[in-house]
Amino acid sequence: MSTNNEYPQTVNFDGAEIEVRMMSADDRDAVLAFAKDLPEEDLLFLRIDLTDPDVVDDWVANLNSGLSTSIVAYDSEGLVGYASVHKTKARWTRKVGELRVNVAGKYRSKGLGKFLTNRIFDIARAQGLKKLMGNMTTDQRSAQAAFRRLGFVPEAVLADFIEDWSGTSRDLLIMSYDIDGHSETLDEPARV
Ligand SMILES: CC(C)(COP(=O)(O)OP(=O)(O)OC[C@H]1O[C@@H](n2cnc3c(N)ncnc32)[C@H](O)[C@@H]1OP(=O)(O)O)[C@@H](O)C(=O)NCCC(=O)NCCS
Repeated sequence: MSTNNEYPQTVNFDGAEIEVRMMSADDRDAVLAFAKDLPEEDLLFLRIDLTDPDVVDDWVANLNSGLSTSIVAYDSEGLVGYASVHKTKARWTRKVGELRVNVAGKYRSKGLGKFLTNRIFDIARAQGLKKLMGNMTTDQRSAQAAFRRLGFVPEAVLADFIEDWSGTSRDLLIMSYDIDGHSETLDEPARV
């Protein structure tokens, strides 16, 4: 099981060395640069506006308070992805976390999203969480397909629940993953 002291770790993706480490305040500017480089279509669907420094500061504050735990991935040029589990303070949902994962276009469909998600599964399990939720719009077909492949199942669709950054209404798809059912022995790239 992965714990904080297993990081940083270096893995190989598509011939590139990727360093994965726990996110801290030091990653603030790299997250802003990553968000700035995202294609417009991705920005449209971002749950929080990562191009806004105040929003990234809130994320860092959540890391410090323990509400969020995040890992970040870097290649030699900068941040290329992150995965994060977010908890709420509500007692009812204390065993549930929300997964957010985002991979730079140049590394998509190479297994990095799966690697980061597996690491977050381990972190979430170590924190005693039982379920992870993933939120996306019903229009995000690729993300849905990837989440299904990661073992998430659709739980609910909430009609017109989201207004994207262009002001268009979208349906929210909530997917869930049962952490206890996850195997830690999935095939992974070799560690460097
Ligand atoms: C969703 C996302 C993180 C997936 O990352 P990724 O690195 O491209 O995914 P991986 O290469 O690790 O693929 C994971 C699995 O999903 C499948 N998959 C990935 N993209 C897919 C696509 N477009 N269509 C179908 N399946 C796909 C892969 O084949 C793989 O399945 P496998 O384990 O059976 O081989 C990435 O597309 C992304 O950053 N999207 C934008 C942000 C977002 O929408 N996040 C989701 C909401 S939080």
